[in-house]
Amino acid sequence: MKALILSGGHGTRLRPLTYSQQKQLIPVANKPVLFYAIEDVVEAGIRDIGIIVGPNKEQVVETVSSVEWDAEIEFIYQGEPRGLAHAILVAEDFLDDEEFVMYLGDNILKDGIVDHAEKFKKLNPDSLILLTEVENPQQFGVAELDENGRIKKLVEKPRIPPSSYALVGIYFFKQVIIEACKSIKPSWRNELEITDAIQWLIDNGYNVEASIVKGWWKDTGKPEDILEANRLVLDGIQPEGKGKVENSRVIGRVVIEEGALIKDSIVKGPCIIGRNCRIVNSYIGPYTSVGNGCEIEGTEVEDSVIMDGSKIVNAGRVIESLIGRNVRIQECGFKPRGHRFVVGDNSDIVL
Ligand code: G1P
Repeated sequence: MKALILSGGHGTRLRPLTYSQQKQLIPVANKPVLFYAIEDVVEAGIRDIGIIVGPNKEQVVETVSSVEWDAEIEFIYQGEPRGLAHAILVAEDFLDDEEFVMYLGDNILKDGIVDHAEKFKKLNPDSLILLTEVENPQQFGVAELDENGRIKKLVEKPRIPPSSYALVGIYFFKQVIIEACKSIKPSWRNELEITDAIQWLIDNGYNVEASIVKGWWKDTGKPEDILEANRLVLDGIQPEGKGKVENSRVIGRVVIEEGALIKDSIVKGPCIIGRNCRIVNSYIGPYTSVGNGCEIEGTEVEDSVIMDGSKIVNAGRVIESLIGRNVRIQECGFKPRGHRFVVGDNSDIVL
């Protein structure tokens, strides 16, 4: 079996971060979201991976290539993000008549895909889709099931959802999906929807099975989703102390990476402090991920994701925040006093 992992698209709902970073590279617990997908695929024994890249292709290639994976990885360029079914068509040569799993690179799944891959092999359907119950089905593809739990119909982002079962962004397919993707028309958002291609399979008598996801699942499309995914992943971390702790209290499950210094501070897990960070006279609270090379001084940070190279000094209390790379936030130490901003387009500040 092959895997097709999607790492393209503009990620407009994650601006301003996605002006400079491909959305699947945004870190959750200090690791790009995309890496969780690659790890899941490798864990399922798949060694042949195609990654669809789009606008920031160089970034994705560089980041993925910086790690040694136990798999062959090929990058496939999708010039225009014209939908998930379009991505399959772009990858037609790579897929080369084999069955495959398509994994959206912005999805994170607690328990991986091993069980679902086994189910696909055992039942041998034309497609196996993953479903999970959500509170906001309007924001996803939704499945209507009959009384035996079989799929009757799929709809993309319905205004009135037929059930609370959302389509998780992980799909197993046989080659007939290519014919389906070629047969459908673009949706109202002018995309070739994978949901419509799977519906085409159902309408044409092909066998589509469902597998229910039991552990948590997160589509990291929006800022609050990144924070939530960060909490969920940090909930499962094991403590590790490679850095230096001086005159500080470290409570609970905390990962302190190599070269980090915690001085005169309190760090309460679950949280992760990246390589070569300096945390001085500060409080780092639960569900915080601090990227590599950050400096936090005289500040309280909780329930936040702070990316590499950022510096926060005497900034009061920072909560539920997503802070990009190389950002500086500091107290105004001179007159006239006031907030001074140099903030990119579509930023979001709550004072
Ligand atoms: C896509 C699919 C949708 C699915 C979701 C899962 O939505 O179209 O059916 O439920 O991924 O992440 P999009 O992220 O394109 O809005």
